[in-house]
Amino acid sequence: MADNTKHLWWQNGIIYQVYPRSFQDSDNDGVGDLKGIMQRLDYLQWLGVDAVWVSPVYPSPMADFGYDISDYTGIHPLFGTMQDFDAMLQEIHRRGMKLILDLVPNHTSDQHPWFLESRSSKDNPKRDWYIWEDAKPDGSEPNNWLSVFGGSGWEWDEKTEQYYYHAFLKEQPDLNWRNPEVQEAMFDVMRFWLDKGVDGFRVDVMWHMVKDKQLRDNPRNPDYKPEMATYEKLLPAYSTDQPEVHDIVQQMRQVTDKYNERVIIGEIYLPIQRLVTYYGPNNNGAHLPFNFMLLNLPWDARTIAAHIDEYEGALPVGGWPNWVLGNHDKSRIGSRIGLEQARMAAMLLLTLRGTPTLYYGDELGMTNVDIPEDQIQDPQGLNMPGLNLSRDPERTPMQWSDKENAGFTTAEPWLPLSDNYKQVNVEAQKKERESMLQLYKKLIELRRSEKALSIGDYQPVHTQGDVLAFKRIHDEEQFLIALNLGNTTQRLNSDPEKLSGKIVLSTDLKSNTQTFDGSIDLQPNQGIICKLYTKYKL
Ligand code: NOJ
Repeated sequence: MADNTKHLWWQNGIIYQVYPRSFQDSDNDGVGDLKGIMQRLDYLQWLGVDAVWVSPVYPSPMADFGYDISDYTGIHPLFGTMQDFDAMLQEIHRRGMKLILDLVPNHTSDQHPWFLESRSSKDNPKRDWYIWEDAKPDGSEPNNWLSVFGGSGWEWDEKTEQYYYHAFLKEQPDLNWRNPEVQEAMFDVMRFWLDKGVDGFRVDVMWHMVKDKQLRDNPRNPDYKPEMATYEKLLPAYSTDQPEVHDIVQQMRQVTDKYNERVIIGEIYLPIQRLVTYYGPNNNGAHLPFNFMLLNLPWDARTIAAHIDEYEGALPVGGWPNWVLGNHDKSRIGSRIGLEQARMAAMLLLTLRGTPTLYYGDELGMTNVDIPEDQIQDPQGLNMPGLNLSRDPERTPMQWSDKENAGFTTAEPWLPLSDNYKQVNVEAQKKERESMLQLYKKLIELRRSEKALSIGDYQPVHTQGDVLAFKRIHDEEQFLIALNLGNTTQRLNSDPEKLSGKIVLSTDLKSNTQTFDGSIDLQPNQGIICKLYTKYKL
């Protein structure tokens, strides 16, 4: 419900994800870094986003590009120093913006001192910090659990003659969150960063953190097909989303609640009804369990409309919604649905009720870059060849200008740049009146200036075919958002008492300010935001 009570920054703000390896290189080694991010803060401020989420920058052997952490309270030299980090945080705050860090509590690197100790002997005090199990009598794995990145989830340790569990790479052993010492150690990590002034965490694979105590076998997935990742052969009924995870999430929340206005965002890929349980029984869980629907749903107006309504209906009282359009694990939206429809997606993301998260480069319409087989770096792609599962294509360097390597680096970039960078880049799109970047900027400006769009209520509008429409309402203000997800003209008709107003923004950035009375034609691939004349009260 929109009302006049105060909304917090993570409710009315916009989050922008930076993948640090690919944002800006300041020391010309081909990999982005913290000083690079700092150099680009003016751009983020110009764009109008409120918070920057930076993927892991901690010391790491980089088996999974930073999601394998060997020191939770340090900075990898590749990205800079702790001084650089402090300077970046200060600069972000000086601009009135917020910084969200990636917290990866489910697993460490196999090079983390905790794991090195744990694997050193069966009676090491840290043995129980990880999930160690005996082999079955025939020597095989303790159960049938699979790794998300292919193959078994269990790795045999010759020295101590037990298996350890890893939901991802074998270089990423899972911590045993049932152990109170593990819990305390990770809460200390959180306090370390919160004391520095970090504004919150995006918690990696939150739904994986606790596993079935009896380690029961996962059931077979009846819908598995050979073109899917091998992990999909089973349904992770016992290896993920266990009831006890909520105690852990609530404890994390208690840690952050000791500080002022910090946020916990949970990375959770689950169906709506399961996802919303992560808000906690009394809104004492994650503030924002990430909602990935727009990343996964077929781009079809009826399907999306039904899911928006289901999500709105499933939210617990007081649970704040959120929407994500891209991230470093999923195909870029511009490649998935095409660049014309990517403009609808931008408008949808920035007009729905709930905190939007944008992925760097999507505001330019950056698309996936084809990486030749022999240059693939992502372990997910390397471990399951031929299934098109590499995440490199959506992780390529940010396109700043038409200069060498798009202004990202003067060295060889760690991943190849898109061929299109001479045209698709920040500098060019700043000058182009109807560019994707201008559309994003205008959408952000409008959202920031209209309470109805940032914190207003959501009301579905009944439409048919390719049109997706809804209203956002705050006090006397009413906005209609109508998006044509198809390629034929669509007419919206209604009683003029209900459908009169003025277009305030169109995705083509041309037909702004047009008025209408009773009917509007939506061109193919056109989305509009209209201010409704509120003299006609509904
Ligand atoms: C989710 C992260 O987003 C992904 O990039 C990573 O590979 C896995 N978690 C494992 O940490």
